[in-house]
Order: sequence, then C-alpha cells, then structure tokens
Amino acid sequence: TPDNHVERDPRLIRLTGIHPFNVEAPLSDLYDEGFLTTKDLFYVRNHGPVPRVEDFEVLDWQFSIEGMVENPVKLTLRDLLREYEQFTYPITLVCAGNRRKEQNMVRKTKGFSWGAAGVSTALWTGVGLWDLLGRAMPKRGARYVCFEGADRLPNGYYGTSVKLNWAVDANRGILVAHKMNGEALHPDHGKPLRIVIPGQIGGRSVKWLKRIIVTARPSDNWYHIYDNRVLPTMVDPEQSANLPETWEDERYAIYDLNTNSAICYPAHDERVSLVEKGVEMYKFKGYAYAGGGKRVTRMEVTLDKGKTWRLANITYHEDQYRDAPDGETLYGGRVDMSWREACFCWCFWDLDIPLADLADAKDVMVRAMDDSMMVQPRDMYWSVLGMMNNPWFRVVIHKED
Ligand code: MTE
Repeated sequence: TPDNHVERDPRLIRLTGIHPFNVEAPLSDLYDEGFLTTKDLFYVRNHGPVPRVEDFEVLDWQFSIEGMVENPVKLTLRDLLREYEQFTYPITLVCAGNRRKEQNMVRKTKGFSWGAAGVSTALWTGVGLWDLLGRAMPKRGARYVCFEGADRLPNGYYGTSVKLNWAVDANRGILVAHKMNGEALHPDHGKPLRIVIPGQIGGRSVKWLKRIIVTARPSDNWYHIYDNRVLPTMVDPEQSANLPETWEDERYAIYDLNTNSAICYPAHDERVSLVEKGVEMYKFKGYAYAGGGKRVTRMEVTLDKGKTWRLANITYHEDQYRDAPDGETLYGGRVDMSWREACFCWCFWDLDIPLADLADAKDVMVRAMDDSMMVQPRDMYWSVLGMMNNPWFRVVIHKED
C-alpha cells in the first residue's frame, strides 16, 4: 500500500480496508491506557495516503500564512521552534463519526462504522495559532481561517476552516503542533506539523499542514463541504448527491463537539460473574467528554432503561496531578488558569454496583451532563453522514452464574 513507510500497532482495529488507514483501539484497552493515549492506540482517521516525510526533512518543513493578512509569511518548523513560545496542552480529539456503528445498525449512513473508540487524548506541543495570526495581522473583513494539508486525495487536498475569532483567542488554545506526548508526531498523526483544535471535532484539526489562509468566507474545499456535517434527518443517501445548496449551508457544519459518553467496562462481550468468591461489587467504567471548553459535570447510570438513575464518580485529567506544584512542571510548558478552568479533555467515570442489583438487569445505560446542563438524549438523531451520535450508551450485561 502507499503507506508502507508507516509503523503501526497490530492491536488497532481496521474499520475500512487496508487503505486508507482508519482504525480504533479495543475500547477497554483505550480505557486502560488512562488519560493520555499513546500513539500506539490513538485512533487514526486518514482520507488517503500518508505523506512521506523523512526525519532529516522535518525541520525544513514549510507552511504559509496567506490570504487576508497584512504580513503573509512562509515559515519552517525550525522557525517555529526558534521564534515562538511553545505550549503543551492535554487535548482530546474525537472523530465526528465516533459511535456511528449504532447509527448504521438503525439505517445505513454514508460513513463507515466507528465503535466508541474514535476518541483519544494526548499532550500536544506547538505554537499558538493566535501568536502566528498576531504576527500575520488579519485584515478588516476577515472572518475565517482555512487550513490545508499535504495529502493528495481524490477531491484535491484535505482542507477545512474555522471561525477567525476562535483562532485568535489564546484561551481557545488552537495549536500548530509538532509533538504528541513529548515525541515528534507519528506519520499517521500529521508528521511533522498539524493543527490541533481543542473542543472541536477532529476533522478540523488538519494534519500535514501546508497552508493557513485567512478569508472572508468558509473554506470551499471539497472535504469542508461534503464531510463533517449533520444534514437534516430527512435527507437520505440517494437524494443527498443532488443537493449542493444543502451541503454548502454552513449551518450544518460541525464545530464544537457535543456531550457524549461510553461504557468501557463491561466490554460488549464480557461476562460478568455474579458469584465470584469474596466479590460483592462490579465496577462499571468509561469515559465522557463535552465540546467547546465545557466540562462534564454529571454522569448517570441506569439498570432499568432510564426509570431510575445512579450517580457515578467522575475523575478529571487534572485530578491525577493534584499534588504537582504547578502547571509548568505538569506539561513542560505554560498552562494558564483560564485554560485550566475550561475543559478540553475527556474525563473518566466509574461506579460500583452491588452484584445483587445486577441479578434482574438486562443491560446498563449511561448518560453524561455538561456544565450548561445539556444531557445526552435518549433517542438517536440519524443523519446521512452518521455524525455526532450521542444517545445514552448501552451495553448488554452477559452474566455468568
Ligand atoms: N488532515 C488531513 N490532512 N487529512 C485527513 O484525512 N482527517 C481529519 C483530521 N485531519 C484528516 C486530517 C479527521 S476527519 C480527523 S477525525 C482527524 O484528522 C483525525 O486525527 P488523527 O488521525 O490524528 O486521530
């Protein structure tokens, strides 16, 4: 395949054929790695072949900032390291198609079947997009920032855009990143340079970054228009090809993530023993996230399809660093307070349930609530691309007694 220069972990589960490479980890393995996902199990969403970049070419990798700016520039990764402050933040990336498999089971969408592991978290290091744009100086009337990658695809380069006001805000923390968990980027994750947008769907975080273009209008890239959208639910796969105006309607483009959660334990095929000697509880465990800097503030579990709920414990990424002296040492870079109050990282939840309570339960379902009191819905919103699926997550309890 065109990607035979890329090394990959055999535990990753392929969701499409051999090429392009689209994979997720087994859900319980993802959970077991903890808050930070290694490059080995980090989900991968590639639309085409991975650009081949040799190690000796990395520092000379060049990208441009152009369009509606006073000072257009061409910069190399070497320039970024020499001239700009480096930031390191823990950021969760989520593919907008996470949990699409459940949608495909109801009615086939145009997308492939992600389980619930199309989400991962890493420490990303890079320079602030706000700093770069501060130097380039957007002109009056500029409203969007487009990004373009180096991968060549059937419909041109991969590209998309986000709103300029988000991109110039340091508290939103958009990075032009060159490291993941302290190491140079792995080829599948954008070697040598990518955008990382906290709190938004992964599809906006362009890999193998070549161009940043400041514009008055959203990106006209094919992938911006025909991917990462939630079209109205009545648009069906056959009809959808003939609706250019619907696709181009920017109101249907996804930016912020929605509130979502999953159960990692028990796994879908796990047998829960109700009669293990000396064991009285089963620990249910999983993850949750919200978008746009919102925090998951509540996690609930039901054993009776939503008639009654139990409150689960939530652990945030910063809890594990509680005893560390300050942000400087945590992430080897500056982490300011405004950042720490926002939440751009998933959280983990757990709940011990007495085995006796499981005797009559057929399944377990969970839902998360965020700090704007938005709660995951009971029902699915089906749409033609199968994106942003976030109804209550359900696992059947297989018992062993
Ligand atoms: N950037 C480029 N250049 N090409 C791509 O195919 N895929 C996007 C985004 N950036 C993509 C890209 C999508 S849809 C997602 S979800 C994320 O990258 C996935 O990032 P990851 O593979 O590092 O997890």
